[in-house]
Amino acid sequence: DIDRKADSVLRLMTLEEKIGQMNQYNGFWEVTGPAPKDGAAAIKYEHLKKGWVGSMLNVLGTKDVRALQKIAVEETRLHIPVIFGYDVIHGYQTLSPIPLAESASWDLEAIQKSAAIAAEEAASVGVNWTFAPMVDITRDARWGRVMEGAGEDPYLGSKIAYARVKGFQGNDFKNAKTIVACTKHFAAYGFAEAGRDYNTVDMGNETLYNVVFPPFKATVDAGVYTFMNSFNEINGIPSTGSAFLQRDVLKGDWGFNGFVVSDWGSMGEMIAHGQAKDGKEAAEIAANGGSDMDMESSVYVEHLAALVREGKVKESYIDDSARRILKVKFELGLFDDPYKYCNEANEKATVGKKEFHDGVLDMAKKSIVLLKNQNDLLPLKKSGQKIALIGALANDKSSPLGSWRAAAKDGSAVSVLEGMQKYTGNQLVFEKGVDVAVGTPVFGSETKINVTDKSGLDKAVAAAKDADVVVMVLGEIGFQTGEGRSRVDLELPGMQQELLEAVYKANKNIVLVVNSGRPLILNWADANVPAIVEAWQLGTESGNAIAQVLYGDYNPSGKLPMSFPRNVGQLPIYYNHKNTGRPNGGGESVFWSHYGDEKNTPLYPFGYGLSYSRFEYSNIRLSSNTFSGNEEIKVSVDVKNTGKADGKEVVQMYLRDLFGSATRPVRELKGFEMVPLKSGETKTITFKIDKKHIQYYTPKQRWEAEPGDFKVFIGGNSDAPLSADFKYVN
Ligand code: IFM
Repeated sequence: DIDRKADSVLRLMTLEEKIGQMNQYNGFWEVTGPAPKDGAAAIKYEHLKKGWVGSMLNVLGTKDVRALQKIAVEETRLHIPVIFGYDVIHGYQTLSPIPLAESASWDLEAIQKSAAIAAEEAASVGVNWTFAPMVDITRDARWGRVMEGAGEDPYLGSKIAYARVKGFQGNDFKNAKTIVACTKHFAAYGFAEAGRDYNTVDMGNETLYNVVFPPFKATVDAGVYTFMNSFNEINGIPSTGSAFLQRDVLKGDWGFNGFVVSDWGSMGEMIAHGQAKDGKEAAEIAANGGSDMDMESSVYVEHLAALVREGKVKESYIDDSARRILKVKFELGLFDDPYKYCNEANEKATVGKKEFHDGVLDMAKKSIVLLKNQNDLLPLKKSGQKIALIGALANDKSSPLGSWRAAAKDGSAVSVLEGMQKYTGNQLVFEKGVDVAVGTPVFGSETKINVTDKSGLDKAVAAAKDADVVVMVLGEIGFQTGEGRSRVDLELPGMQQELLEAVYKANKNIVLVVNSGRPLILNWADANVPAIVEAWQLGTESGNAIAQVLYGDYNPSGKLPMSFPRNVGQLPIYYNHKNTGRPNGGGESVFWSHYGDEKNTPLYPFGYGLSYSRFEYSNIRLSSNTFSGNEEIKVSVDVKNTGKADGKEVVQMYLRDLFGSATRPVRELKGFEMVPLKSGETKTITFKIDKKHIQYYTPKQRWEAEPGDFKVFIGGNSDAPLSADFKYVN
């Protein structure tokens, strides 16, 4: 039906109008001001009136959206509505934790709900398309955009990608509470060389298919309507112009029926890449490569019609792209009611509503990871204690919003200080110590971390001396991660390490709360500080979530979605690495795969995270140690909560294929379950294993389950020691 409808519109369209659908402009005009008369804005305005704009991004508020939509549907020849997109990455105004943090929850239901909240709030202001989820797998914490994804693992990443698409899009668009999702960035953007954003990617099919592609494919299975390609080149071809990625894999092998938008200006960037000689050639390569919509580089609107007339781009490609875009507009219901996302009363009632705050608080608590808790320093006692709260981030109401903070207002997050002040039984003293960064960082500007002012250090030390417990909130400010914010130094930025060590000399009873958008290097803290909590950037309700965890009103259950390195020199570091031909050390020999000055292992492995409960694993057993064809076997383990507190544990199952026609990773996550356990309770957890769990993209360039010997490991992180052996036979 949608196909028929789209075709009926397509038949009426001129070539220029079809190409117009393929053109996306950044919001160029606040409609409360006079209509633009000259410059780029005037050209865009003219294009809108001619029906040469299929989509706009960054237009916010029902008033502006309605006014621009009115031009599209009333002044253009065919009255085709515009689709309005925006980066609703972890919320619109009421922010959830950054996606990397949410991923640490391993709680798919909560993650789906968090995306649904973001969608509903954004939809109420006229947005009908988000440029999320970002599903780029990454193994390199130097890359600033790790904050935006689900971390290093394709299995966890696929489950989260699926959940986020379902959350954004819901089951239908009828009630205008859900919006179209956009899977990005296709592909391999997270593998930029040396973790430097936008850098070159050089990758074989083995990693591309087994590691990079699965989360993208999962979103196609979830029914995502749009994809965004990536800024990087891969194996010499910028993704924007890659027919292999877009035509062969995505639209061909995976049968994706939606449309692909380029990243911002990335068609034009093919000139800087050194592939296209000018904008016209860039348009030709992008269109032939399968990019359906041009975000803000104008090369389609300027050159595509001529390219078709010259026979350099087939008209059938233009028809296909325009049809894909029209179909999404039909799916959304924009042809029936172009103003369905423009209800001002609903906007007022929806933005910032209480229910959203409750939802993002719940998500924030679930995202926190307890890294160390020596002598049960945590949870804190609720009364009779003197607590020194130290660190500029403890009193920061913007940094918890992280990067991609959409329409969240500066200073709108609950700080740790505010969160802790709600617990009035203790005496609480705050000292900043040192600043994390200089100036007020803003989106798109470089963060200055050359902090030199130490004048607050002595006061912080004095407060620590006088306290029973010191809570230190250290780490990165909100805009230290994100797009364009790669870093080579992953220690605590600025003078925070100096502050930590000075305070430690005065009082060793320290709870370190880390705020960061990426794994940081925490060696000194791990060796010295008794309690460490990874609290990421947790969004609007950050301080409340942290306080509730510190005081034991919420028992942490998060698990790391990325390995925490010991040293930048280890990067890329990831748990599902290969064994190499020389894996085993020992003795004096240097001839094995290692560093002379650091361990191979991370400080904290993937999947790691503690709780106020303690979980013991025992009795791993298989229903059979052989299976074949489409059979399945079961692996079970007993998990006991031996601690005093009730809690939840993410039980994880990893597999190892001991010999393959290609070498296989030492472990791969293939199942997990969130298990609530009361104090003293034991549960038996069972996972199924079938051919799907052991198949991989083999040297024969297809997905196969190869017969052979396997190991299964079950435990609370990727180092899980319990294992059992099985065989898959033909
Ligand atoms: O969606 C983003 C993308 O991730 C990075 N470049 C800009 C786009 C639109 O804002």
